Order: sequence, then C-alpha cells, then structure tokens
Amino acid sequence: MANDIRAVAWTGDGLRLIDQTVLPGRVEHLDVRDTATLVDAIQRLAVRGAPALGVAGAFGVAVAMLEAERKRWPDAERDAAIARVRSARPTAVNLAAGVDRVLPLMPEGVAAVLAEAQALLDEDVRGNRAIGRLGADWILARTGERPLRVLTHCNAGALATAGWGTALGVVRELHDRGRVELVYADETRPLLQGTRLTAWELRQAGIPYRVQTDGAAPSTILRGLVDVAVIGADRIAANGDTANKIGSLGVALACADAGIPFVVAAPWSTVDPATPTGAGIPIEERAAGEVLNGAAPEGASAFNPAFDVTPARLVTALVTETGVLEVSAGRTPLA
Ligand code: MRU
Repeated sequence: MANDIRAVAWTGDGLRLIDQTVLPGRVEHLDVRDTATLVDAIQRLAVRGAPALGVAGAFGVAVAMLEAERKRWPDAERDAAIARVRSARPTAVNLAAGVDRVLPLMPEGVAAVLAEAQALLDEDVRGNRAIGRLGADWILARTGERPLRVLTHCNAGALATAGWGTALGVVRELHDRGRVELVYADETRPLLQGTRLTAWELRQAGIPYRVQTDGAAPSTILRGLVDVAVIGADRIAANGDTANKIGSLGVALACADAGIPFVVAAPWSTVDPATPTGAGIPIEERAAGEVLNGAAPEGASAFNPAFDVTPARLVTALVTETGVLEVSAGRTPLA
C-alpha cells in the first residue's frame, strides 16, 4: 500500500498533491496550476516533509513556466513567482534545493524541467528504499533478537517524501523482516502529523502502533519501553547537527540518557554542506493560533518554532541512501 501513496505527482498538465490537511478523515487531492496555490499549499502543510517539498519545488518551477505562458508574464514576474515557491518555508533545505536543481534547465523548456523534476522524484523513492534496508541492517546489528519497540516523531513516511518514507521506510523494512513489536508515534504538536499522518500510514501498512503525546516520549524511553528512536530530518548541517520537527531534541536527550540509539534517516539531499553547524539553520516560526488553539486567555501570545536542532553529539547514526554514518562517534564528518 505504501507504494500507492503518492504525496506529489505530475498529471500531465499540473501538479497533484495529496491534501495532507484533511487526512486521515478524507483522502483528497489538490490540483495545482499556479504558484500562488502552491505557496499556499506549502505554507498550510497540504504538502510537507523535506523530500516531498523538494519534489514539489522542482515541479513548481514547471508550474510557474506554464502559468507565465498562460498569463503572458514577463520573465521577471515568472522568476519572482519561482522565488516565492523557493522560500515558502525556510527550514527544509530540500525545497530550495529542488527548485535550484531544475533552474538550469529552464532555457531548454518545460519538458526538460519536468524530466529533471521526475528524476528527482524517482531518485527519492529509490533512495528511501535503500535507507530502509541500510537502516534496518544497522539497527538489527545493534539490538537483540526480540522484535523492536520503535519510537518515531512527526511524519517521515510516504506522505513526507516521494514514496515509502525515510524514518518510516526503516520501520516498514523492519516490519517486513518481522522485527517490529510496536511503534510509538509521537502526536507531534501542534499540527498532529504523528496522530493524523504517521498513524494513518502505520495502519495502512498493518504495523502495530500507539499514539502518545510528545510530552510522554522521554518518559516512555526512560521507562525502558523503547529500543530505538528513528526520525527524519529537514536539514542536516555539515557537522551533523540535525533540524527536525519540534520535540525531536527531547527524544534525542532521552535516548542518550537511556543509552539507546537515536537514528536519523535522511537522504543526502537533506544534508546542507553550506551550513556549517545547526546554529545556521533557519527555524520556521509559525502562527500563535496553532499553539493557543482558542484555549488560551484573550491576549495570550505564543512561541511556535516548528523545528528544533539536535546537536550531532546526540545523533547515534545518520542513515543515508549510500551508507550509515555514526555521527556522535565523530568518525564520519559529513562535509
Ligand atoms: O512541518 P513538517 O510536517 O513539514 O515537518 C516535517 C518533519 O519534521 C519531518 O520529520 C522531516 O521533514 C523529514 S520527512 C522525511
């Protein structure tokens, strides 16, 4: 079933996204033929997750080219629209990288841009399969014979990628090998990607899971109920510092204290050699209303960073499509 989840696809004349804001209640698609709709979809998290954003950004350039043709835009207007797509969300490096990958092909026309965007999509699916295999091998070599209790945070599944998933790709592979006892899916405040999306994917895949509050995660780990945590990433600095959904850092600290592996599963496209350390990763701050939820007293303000940065010293392993880097051991510099 995971193979059938296509968060991002090109239909022939436009971009088709699964509208992740209405999952799991409804599976609806959003057909995108203009850049304003795409920027809005990215900012509302109708499409989300670093690799999926990269593919959407690459196809977004084709959307802009076709829109410019239809609306007889001058090049400057088209380029400004592409720039708005590129910067619609700041933390996941894949979005800008996806746009940048296809830009050099613009002079060759829309077909060339589309071919490159499709190549990125196909590479991502292949890469995720490799991440799944390599991650499962690494984890199983370090854990006992017993089926594993795995914790994950946010959604790094098929919905967050071009298919299969990164962290959930590892979980799927472990499950296929008969080695998953239970997945703890952190709910992921405030937009509930864990409760809504990860739980939906795990259910489709027939993988046993329990949703828990983000606040429960460190305690679940220290109580000895978790064998390994596996998460995705939005941007990995050259020194291995890793930005991912807010709450990931607490999971990493608890794993370090409990002495269990904290594993980041991400393709090389998420590694940003131009950012030396996590201090340079831009962290998106989202609207107060997402946190206050109509429940706070009138006039309350909120701090709503969407991501945090886990220092490299807490990342036991980074699983990429080409191999596993044991980051905290410091033996494998990324760039
Ligand atoms: O705000 P989101 O839902 O886009 O955040 C997504 C995450 O934090 C994912 O873990 C990350 O992008 C990796 S997806 C394979």
